[in-house]
Amino acid sequence: MADPIKAVRGTRDILPPDSALWQHVEQAARDVFQRYDFHEIRTPIFEDTQLFARSVGEETDIVSKEMFTWEDRPRAQSEKAQSLTLRPENTAGVVRAYIEHKLGETGKLQKLYYIGPQFRRERPQKGRFRQFYQIGAEVLGPPSAGSESPARDAEIITMLAQLLREVGIRNWELQLNSVGCADDRARYNQALREALAGVKDKMCADCRRRAETNPLRVLDCKVPEDQRIIESLPKISAYLDEPCREHFNEVRKILNHVGLRYQVNERMVRGLDYYTRTTFEFTHGGLGAQSALLGGGRYDGLSEGLGGPKAPGIGFALGLDRFVLALQSEETVGIPDQSPAIYVAPLGQGMNAEAAVIARDLRKQQIATELGDDTFRAKKSFEAAERSGAKFILFVGENEIASEQFALKNLKSGEQMTVARAEIANKLKS
Ligand code: HAM
Repeated sequence: MADPIKAVRGTRDILPPDSALWQHVEQAARDVFQRYDFHEIRTPIFEDTQLFARSVGEETDIVSKEMFTWEDRPRAQSEKAQSLTLRPENTAGVVRAYIEHKLGETGKLQKLYYIGPQFRRERPQKGRFRQFYQIGAEVLGPPSAGSESPARDAEIITMLAQLLREVGIRNWELQLNSVGCADDRARYNQALREALAGVKDKMCADCRRRAETNPLRVLDCKVPEDQRIIESLPKISAYLDEPCREHFNEVRKILNHVGLRYQVNERMVRGLDYYTRTTFEFTHGGLGAQSALLGGGRYDGLSEGLGGPKAPGIGFALGLDRFVLALQSEETVGIPDQSPAIYVAPLGQGMNAEAAVIARDLRKQQIATELGDDTFRAKKSFEAAERSGAKFILFVGENEIASEQFALKNLKSGEQMTVARAEIANKLKS
């Protein structure tokens, strides 16, 4: 026999009952987003490769090493093949959609959220997959709508603390930084380039290359031998201009006032090139090496970089896989019980049709119902009902149908009662 085919490396199946925990996080996120006036956007899972090259940045690990990219077949011989890529993140797609649909012309702040798979060809390990899932949100719009305000940054971060609380994750830490505006970044990059000139030969190959092409990315390096040099490099805070410094101070002032604790981490520049000003990450101790629960920041120049209007924005994406791992490591939230309330067991030949009507009526009345079939004798029905996790079992036989009275048995306590047909749903709800 041929070998069975397995899920591809770095991908996996989310099976019940674990999937209930995923739904719990998704539902909490949708609830919180609604209270903060965010609305759902769904963008395609693949996009033109240039979109990611121009936003996330050619020099980032994501674009230079991790994308799933292929050439699409040209529609006509005269056409060039289009390069397409499975989205490695969703901010670029949202900003593309903002530009394409002229959402800026509404004059309104756009508050958009998304839930869906992302793809990066990273080395799989705990908390790191090649197909992973993000829940993210973005606030962007014309400056006249208040999109540049530090109040937006603080609101997003406050919303995240609320979401973590409602999901049930407690042991998180918030790291905060400001990477300044494009001018600050240019001056800081220059300072890094100069500082690296004398030491880069002692560093890893990636750092040596980046010291020339995009020195900021050197701060992302995880190679242990390079850390001492990186610690000695100039710090971004010394290169922020006055408006950026003030913006960051205001974000911190609001966060202090709402009582959120955070650490300023000047090395946190994040692995994507579009960031400006505020950047942040929430980490969790139970995740191992991949400790980032979520990350985000401001991207005031992204829309213009993609050929759109001025549309400052800020957003985040959380790793759903990692949220579930964090929940499991804290053991404070169990898997929500999704087993049926009742198991309907047809008793004796020819009872399938009657049982189907009863099950249909219960389901209409919002009762989660499992249905057996009449090849099962009473003992086998009990066993099947236990396996399904149902709390009650109801037998449907000729006598019950004729008298409209049914024996309803509580499978946990063993208690049995006789209930009129019209009363079954009420009894279960009580
Ligand atoms: P990111 O930091 O690249 O940011 O990813 C956000 C989160 O996605 C990470 O903190 C992590 O929880 C999760 N994640 C990333 N890669 C993987 C992986 N291979 N396996 C499992 N989980 C992963 C962004 O993607 C930005 N678009 C966030 C953003 C939105 N910034 C502004 N708006």
